[in-house]
Amino acid sequence: MDTAKKEKEKRFFVVANWKMNKTIREAEKYIEELKPLIADRKAPVWIAVPYTAIHACREMFPASIPVGAQNMNDASSGAFTGEVAGIMLKEAGADFVLLGHSERRQYFHETDEFINKKVLRALEVPLKPLLCIGEGFDERETKKTKEVLEKQLTTCLKGVSKDEMKNLLIAYEPIWAIGTGKAATPELVKETHADIRAILETMFDKEIAQKTPILYGGSVSASTAGALAATEGVDGFLVGTASLDPQSFAKIAALSENSPA
Ligand code: PGA
Repeated sequence: MDTAKKEKEKRFFVVANWKMNKTIREAEKYIEELKPLIADRKAPVWIAVPYTAIHACREMFPASIPVGAQNMNDASSGAFTGEVAGIMLKEAGADFVLLGHSERRQYFHETDEFINKKVLRALEVPLKPLLCIGEGFDERETKKTKEVLEKQLTTCLKGVSKDEMKNLLIAYEPIWAIGTGKAATPELVKETHADIRAILETMFDKEIAQKTPILYGGSVSASTAGALAATEGVDGFLVGTASLDPQSFAKIAALSENSPA
């Protein structure tokens, strides 16, 4: 096996996003089923779960499997009824946090400016931010994708230092591909990940552009994972629907590990 492939295998992040699914009991059952299926994996599998399941997941998964939340507030404490602070997530056992997911932007009106505050707070806690960015269908159709991604990246990462970038991951998730069963093609993903790296290079430097993991998300399934994992510039997946079943999630993990890249 060549060094590039070995490097990719080590670095390939397969991240589950359960969204608003699974009670604590259901999470426990899932973990029991998943554990033996991923026992031989070399690359990390990460799991982003509802707040209520963080503690149980942390207790049940081996320490090598990072457990994460799907959101957090930007403040460290205070009168924000119903919100959860990063330090609370950390204490509950979270290692990372999804920030800026398109469902948060769409249904809860989160702006890039607000997401930026959360990114800075997460880094301070510290929790690794997995920052989600992506364009809508109309933006893709009218060739505004690069402009949209540039605005999201420059605003969401404002004030983040080069050193802090080592603890941050990016997920490129075209909105039109999320939950639709229509994953983006490998060609489109390759091109867009290269655009993201070019933006990061302008914002930071070449090394950061190359080393920041850029994951793809949007209808990743057992039938699309192999080709997408083999795509240049793809360092992992953020998997929604297909992560809810341990068998299909493990299959995606296995396919990505055996990709011919
Ligand atoms: P999907 O969701 O895999 O169901 O498209 C991905 C995501 O929203 O992170």
